[in-house]
Amino acid sequence: MAIQKLIVRGGTKLQGSVTISGSKNSSLPILAATLLTPDECEIRRVPDLSDTNYMVQILSLLGAGVERASGTVVTKAESITHEAPYDLVRKMRASVCVLGPLLGRLGRAEVSLPGGCVIGDRPIDLHLRGFEALGAEVEVKGGNILLSAPNGLRGAEINMRGSHGSTVLGTGNVMMAAVLAEGQTIIEGAAAEPEVVDLARFLVRMGAKIHGAGTQRIDIEGVRELHGAEHDVIADRIEAGTFLVAGAIAGSEVTLKRACVSHLQPVIEKLSSCGHEIVSDATGESITIRSAANPRGNEIVTDAYPDFPTDMQAQMCALFSIAPGISAVTERIFPQRFMHVPELVRMGARIRMDGATAIITGVDHLSGAPVMASDLRASAALVLAGLCASGETAVNRLYHIDRGYEHIDDKLLAIGADVRREKGD
Ligand code: EPU
Repeated sequence: MAIQKLIVRGGTKLQGSVTISGSKNSSLPILAATLLTPDECEIRRVPDLSDTNYMVQILSLLGAGVERASGTVVTKAESITHEAPYDLVRKMRASVCVLGPLLGRLGRAEVSLPGGCVIGDRPIDLHLRGFEALGAEVEVKGGNILLSAPNGLRGAEINMRGSHGSTVLGTGNVMMAAVLAEGQTIIEGAAAEPEVVDLARFLVRMGAKIHGAGTQRIDIEGVRELHGAEHDVIADRIEAGTFLVAGAIAGSEVTLKRACVSHLQPVIEKLSSCGHEIVSDATGESITIRSAANPRGNEIVTDAYPDFPTDMQAQMCALFSIAPGISAVTERIFPQRFMHVPELVRMGARIRMDGATAIITGVDHLSGAPVMASDLRASAALVLAGLCASGETAVNRLYHIDRGYEHIDDKLLAIGADVRREKGD
């Protein structure tokens, strides 16, 4: 598809409701987990995004039958190969999460090593450490990772904690291999993100024995085989958080439908302490934000769940750019993840970097400008800034945003934003 840009004309007050899609970061490992069984699986509420499309294509090139219709993906991985095709894998870093299922089911896997990533150095040493602990041999050859366990995997005690804390996809990957290993596996230093819990819930539906998902210690008792299962993916907490910030930055009143209030606590707490009013209904699925008449800046330090998510950091930088006072945003997970800062500065924001901390002095307005999206969440931040800026903001390279936000332009239009897609350059 030709490169597109999003033209955002700022200044309209947002009002209305947005239905939140299923989680991208849950869908990707859950789709990969369907490789663990030859039976049919049905995954519902899979968002229509380029990243989920890549994963569907990878499953199909590995030999699985895959059908996709309006948010539901039906898979049947009756007979599959252990080699993931390089051309597709290189397009999405999260493709590494087929390693665990292939190793668990087939005793071997070959996937190309993910390359550099614009949000910083993203190694997979912890994934590999986990596979090795389960008895797999790990080799890197010709840019590919080769895993083999000719005699099968054996349960083990594994510490997955790295210098930046736990790993989300790494925990999922090792969990997916360990469910078919012989005996007990204990993952210490496990990631406790809701997406890891969602994956564990799906694996349990397939017949896996897993306890402790959502804590830092996951206990897995290996089983001989898994069977088909159905699953509804959880709501995307980052899409939901992004629309809450849209409500705060340019709204009068915006309501999220089909969201999950408990997964959004750190974001809701910060937005509330900036003066915005947030209420949810008894189901916890409907959340309304009323923007503050006199908002304030704040401090944020990103860290693993249940602390403030790194995937909401860029959006908060946009919000703090026009919040009176001085704000500080520190990135603990990906210290280099600040590509949005120079672009926000081009729109009139006053931001100074001090190591992995952005010091933001709120200005009274931003001005629209042509800006360049560099990764998914940075792009979202620029769209948010455009919503409150004077004049037009053109966010180029929209394909970054289409990786993770389902129909973002339609959803913004539905709450009154003035946005349109155009051919980019
Ligand atoms: N790390 C290592 N070694 C490893 C793995 C990770 O040192 O083997 C480091 C990373 O470099 C980073 C930290 O550990 O400093 C955490 O990385 P993690 O492995 O948790 O990230 P991930 O699992 O690759 C997922 C999300 C990201 C999200 C992070 C952190 C998916 C597909 N991706 O990545 O989402 O930022 O967890 O919460 O689930 C996004 O959606 O925009 C996105 C980047």
